[in-house]
Amino acid sequence: MLRGVYPGSFDPVTYGHLDVIRRSARLVDELIVGVLNNKAKSPLFSVEERVKMLENVTKDMSNVKIIPFEGLLVDFACKVDAGMVIRGLRAITDFEYELQMAQTNHKMAPGVETVFLTTSLEYSYLSSTTVKEVAAFGGDISQFVPDTVADRITEKMKKKESVDV
Ligand code: PNS
Repeated sequence: MLRGVYPGSFDPVTYGHLDVIRRSARLVDELIVGVLNNKAKSPLFSVEERVKMLENVTKDMSNVKIIPFEGLLVDFACKVDAGMVIRGLRAITDFEYELQMAQTNHKMAPGVETVFLTTSLEYSYLSSTTVKEVAAFGGDISQFVPDTVADRITEKMKKKESVDV
């Protein structure tokens, strides 16, 4: 059984992530989407909310499971018995950080291989950060994230506005 982990923050999941999830799911028997619960950061969405949104948008993919994790990615990969970590590469600017991470992970866990998928060209500009910025200024995010996710972002932004006022 070939099991892969696609890790990330997914704050929130975008069409770019979904593209990598869909294509990775065809390469392995089971794909685990690992959602990082990084207590040092304050994400827009809680890890529970991010997991729920991911579950919702991947419900048509029968070999995809969404699992939150804390700590080192390689420890998580070993815990779920995955021999492969999958990461998306959008542009050359991603490469330096990704290479450093892959090499560090390989040193710590030589049995876990990192595999890179180049993000489809139509999503090569897309990031969760830019989606949040567009939404914060009231822009249309419907072409960047699935409708259910766009609704959650809009709700969240409204709540933030009412707290900030
Ligand atoms: O979506 P992101 O924020 O680019 O994902 C980054 C992620 C979660 C893959 C990375 O930060 C990570 O693996 N964090 C867990 C801690 C760890 O193992 N760091 C790698 C050592 S270089």
